Amino acid sequence: MTRSKFLGFGHYVPTKVVTNDDLAKLFDTSDEWIQQRTGIKERRFIEHSGIGASDLAVPAVKMACENAGVGVDSIDAIIFATLSPDFNFPGSGCFLGDKLGLPGVPALDVRNQCSGFLYSLQIADAWIRCGMYRRVAVVGGEVHSTGLDFTDAGRDVAVLFGDGAACALLGPTEDGEEPGVLDVEIHADGSGAKELWLEAPASAYMPRLTKEMIDERKIWPAMNGKQVFRWATKKMPEVMLSVLERNGLSMSDIDLLVPHQANKRINEFVCQKLEFPAEKVVHNIERYGNTTAASIPLGLSEAIQQGRVSSGDTVLMAAFGSGFTWGAALVRL
Ligand code: UT7
Repeated sequence: MTRSKFLGFGHYVPTKVVTNDDLAKLFDTSDEWIQQRTGIKERRFIEHSGIGASDLAVPAVKMACENAGVGVDSIDAIIFATLSPDFNFPGSGCFLGDKLGLPGVPALDVRNQCSGFLYSLQIADAWIRCGMYRRVAVVGGEVHSTGLDFTDAGRDVAVLFGDGAACALLGPTEDGEEPGVLDVEIHADGSGAKELWLEAPASAYMPRLTKEMIDERKIWPAMNGKQVFRWATKKMPEVMLSVLERNGLSMSDIDLLVPHQANKRINEFVCQKLEFPAEKVVHNIERYGNTTAASIPLGLSEAIQQGRVSSGDTVLMAAFGSGFTWGAALVRL
């Protein structure tokens, strides 16, 4: 039976480095607070207005194709996971397809925030298994920096996020070849939707945007940090163990864990709970902050580039975020 596998990874981050001290010049925060609470030292922001998530994705996709040894023109489907699409509509996948010169290639946007890459991976895996497509570019890309409140009122959220993009190119296994993607498990619980959300502009309101909404700060992301933290540290280990159990594996079979990069403390807590060694965990939150849908493929792309994993290694990925949504994926490289 045909299964799916990773053919290549690529990533791209903007060149502009923004340190914690840079943010401390804009509002009341400190390098010490940010590092202690989150592990973040710096993040990347787009260099100027006019750069969207699809622009960051272009070099990421090209790098993934180069690493896979195939042309960009071999891509026959795009899945673009983002919570910060270039525009409200159409989706960033359409813009990306055009920028890559892929007219007619289907482009699906996935709006599942920090779990977006895992949701996209499950779709790509299913498409390839059923023979629908042969080269699926699964992209996570975000431009957060244009949507954060850089004042004292927004400091809890503004220090967390960064811009970036990454791509995993997937294709079918050859005859007799072992599967690459072993399993993907995803979940959602909308009872937590308003614990981490962006309220306006909203099609649920008429008009969608008013001066009052701006004055009431509804145009900025709002988060109940403690509640999100609590859920993340419960749901991530739960889904990781569930996907492992279903595949007859345990944490000791895992060569590399690539968790979503929301807060280094969350990942440390999860690893402690599962007694998983710190040296087998990917962390890049110090350099990039939380890049939401891009964080897992960005982490894995860098880990491959650094030679931290090689062919045949078993990798576990896990995420939790807005929605609430969460999930885990088990793959063999
Ligand atoms: O990928 C999306 C999913 N998101 C997450 O997973 C985030 C999960 N939550 C967290 O990571 C943490 O809750 C935060 C890092 C966001 C906050 O850490 P915390 O330990 O929960 O801090 P807190 O919200 O309880 O705030 C503690 C104090 C407060 O001051 P008081 O009331 O104790 O005087 C805040 O006002 O820290 C203050 N504070 C800040 N101080 C300096 C909040 N933000 C900042 C800031 N700089 N940026």
